[in-house]
Amino acid sequence: MATLSLSINGRSVTAEVEPRTHLADFLRSDQHLTGTHLGCEQGVCGACTVLIDGKPQRACLTFAIDCDGADVRSIEGFENDLLMNELRAAFSKFHALQCGFCTPGMLASARDIVSRLGEVSEKRIRLELSGNICRCTGYVGIVEAIRSVSLGKAPESFAVAAAATRLERLGADVVIRSTETAPTSQLGRSKGEGGSLEERIVINAPPEEVWGALSDLRRVAPCVPGAEITEIDGELIKGRVKMALGPIKPSFRGEARVSLNPAAREGKMTGLGRDKGTGSSAEGEASWRVIEGPANGSVVVVSMNWRLTGMLSQFNRSSIVRDVVRGLATAFAANLEAMLKGDAPPPSEPESLNVLQLIWSMIRQRLFGRS
Ligand code: FES
Ligand code: FES
Repeated sequence: MATLSLSINGRSVTAEVEPRTHLADFLRSDQHLTGTHLGCEQGVCGACTVLIDGKPQRACLTFAIDCDGADVRSIEGFENDLLMNELRAAFSKFHALQCGFCTPGMLASARDIVSRLGEVSEKRIRLELSGNICRCTGYVGIVEAIRSVSLGKAPESFAVAAAATRLERLGADVVIRSTETAPTSQLGRSKGEGGSLEERIVINAPPEEVWGALSDLRRVAPCVPGAEITEIDGELIKGRVKMALGPIKPSFRGEARVSLNPAAREGKMTGLGRDKGTGSSAEGEASWRVIEGPANGSVVVVSMNWRLTGMLSQFNRSSIVRDVVRGLATAFAANLEAMLKGDAPPPSEPESLNVLQLIWSMIRQRLFGRS
């Protein structure tokens, strides 16, 4: 017997194993994780595919002892993974499974395809899936499901994936939706603390409707918690954003220049704001694109660069900003959907964006899987 220590689905495990035990048997018999299926046991069918250190591998061809120190993720380990949840919903919607025997391995490979390649063609999906065999459903639904989830997505950056692995080793469930990107403007070189990221917001309304709303800045501004437009003069808009950081309540006043390209359903904004109370300044640029999403819905792809100076720049750690942006995006999507349906218009008086509440809700979601 040999001693094996590894992380399985974010949990530290130490066990005695026979050197000949393969990982699939170890997961199924020792760890009772029977979602890893065994079909051929000779590396052909892909039913046993799991992620080892983030990469899909055959559990039937991998000795458990070779995973000493590794991070193993089986199908049971994706409960709070947003991308996997999207894939699961799409597999249901597109009838991508019948008996379900191949499905855990298919989903592990599908997650790898979308996170590694982003938006991907049908041809490439078929090529990438050539190591996973389905004996009863056929591949049309599986390929459609993966393609629909990939629409509008960019490949996940190495930095984000590595950070996720580190967090998982600490026992946290991780939802990755933001992609940190390299600064693309002068903002990245000026004084202060800055960053950039890309976020995808799924809206349950057709792209034309979403674009129509986003083009009407006065209409859409109330959907952003804490934002208010005070003046629009051509491409120039003036307004303010109110926040609440515990006892600190900054109110940024500033102006931005907006340009819209209706043919491509793309918009761009550059702006500068200042909060007198804390002496902080924020400058940033954002661009957005509305594309078709799953189930006749839309995906708004937003890219941002920003730079903070003054007291508030201490809150610029990328994880904090990412959580705030993600929380904002969720609130914005809910408000916009409600506004488009006309059943619950956003409040006319902007409320402060409660940053600490947003961060806490994202941490709770990561750790406990609820908001
Ligand atoms: S059971 Fe591992 S590839 Fe078939
Ligand atoms: S759903 Fe039955 S083998 Fe794929």
